Amino acid sequence: MTTKLTPEVFRARRERFLDALGDGVAILPAAPTRLRSNDSDHRYRADSDVLYLTDFAEPEAVAVFAPKHPEHQFVLFVRPRDPEREVWDGRRAGVEGAVLEYGADVAFPMSELDARLPEYVDGRERLAYRLGRDEAFDRRVIELLMSYHTTRRAKGPAPHTIFDPGEIVHEMRLRKSPEELAVMRSGAAASAEAHRAAMAAAMPGMHEYELEALIEYTFRRLGGNGPAYPSIVGSGANATILHYIENTRRIEDGDLVLVDAGSEFGYYASDITRTWPVSGRFSSEQRAIYEVVLEAQLEAISRVRPGVTQHEIHEGVVRTMTSGLVQLGLIDGPVDEAIEKGTYKTFYMHKTGHYLGLDVHDVGKYKSGDAWRPLEEGMVITIEPGLYVAEDCETVAPTWRGIGVRIEDDVLVTADGHEVLSEAAPKLVADLERIVGSAASAVTAR
Ligand code: GLY
Ligand code: MN
Ligand code: MN
Repeated sequence: MTTKLTPEVFRARRERFLDALGDGVAILPAAPTRLRSNDSDHRYRADSDVLYLTDFAEPEAVAVFAPKHPEHQFVLFVRPRDPEREVWDGRRAGVEGAVLEYGADVAFPMSELDARLPEYVDGRERLAYRLGRDEAFDRRVIELLMSYHTTRRAKGPAPHTIFDPGEIVHEMRLRKSPEELAVMRSGAAASAEAHRAAMAAAMPGMHEYELEALIEYTFRRLGGNGPAYPSIVGSGANATILHYIENTRRIEDGDLVLVDAGSEFGYYASDITRTWPVSGRFSSEQRAIYEVVLEAQLEAISRVRPGVTQHEIHEGVVRTMTSGLVQLGLIDGPVDEAIEKGTYKTFYMHKTGHYLGLDVHDVGKYKSGDAWRPLEEGMVITIEPGLYVAEDCETVAPTWRGIGVRIEDDVLVTADGHEVLSEAAPKLVADLERIVGSAASAVTAR
């Protein structure tokens, strides 16, 4: 299992970023810590752009990139070493570690940020800084800019162009390198194993949270950081709630279980959904809906290759799903009219996928102007069609109500097609019916 990228990977990324910055300067602050309750924080997760360029995962830090500075192109401002604080909050790299372990040309304590930033910003006309994410830090940057109109007038013009560093970094993040793909393959394999473990252990009478626990235990056991997003374990009609995360219900005989869960592995997300019958046998209605979604998903995956747009993939899914819904009598035909009118949206109300990487809904533009962007080699996307029949849906017979199915895989665009990173997670009807419950034990029985 590969979780770690080498320092060389980060150095090469910084070189590309510095080149693209040209005569500009970039300021990338660490993500702020977030309060969970009273005086306890959420577990800290560094900003993905900062991670991508520096590997530095501590809070209260700022990375500055100054390609035109004579000595310091990569500067880190960090929390200084503090043995007393470190006893409470954990180890810090400190200014020494920022240079030795993270390759900064120079590092300073955070307390010196305001005094030292002008040295890197003076004379630069373009500033890469993302406004609107951290109000307190925005104010610091604005004060620096204001100083060029007041106390620092003689130092030259204030930067007159502020732009989002994501314009550069997100394009870089969009196409994954072989090293990143090695990590993502490991993450997808760990996530697939967690899904398989949940299927095998499942039996009626378990609670959704027991499966959630087993899945997240498996992520950690295999070296992941934990879930990349809150795990969804929805049984029965809970499977029709797209972002159901309570995971509290007792799973009844005859239920479908929808599990949308992916590990964060070496900071890279995977994002997998599987849906299966807890008793090991689909009912005829469950199976009919499952087969429509599976057909749409397999077709969509088969279309993934450079040059195709995600919109075209979505349109193909809409056609297959709509024709399935018409055949099952859940909506009225003809298919073209049902697509035109959007009647399928009662049952399929989301898009077919998104980019995947350091963020589960990863960065990168989907359109260029009005035109959908073609896929390119190295992009990773999800393919995740689903059909959801609400439990109170009065336009269909009661036997269809409360059935929710989504099937989601992580798909790499290769030079001549695709590779399904998550293919180790079973999804064929016969495989699911064989695996579900195969390792259910007396310990989990109720
Ligand atoms: N798990 C979030 C998503 O599928 O987009
Ligand atoms: Mn997804
Ligand atoms: Mn998902």
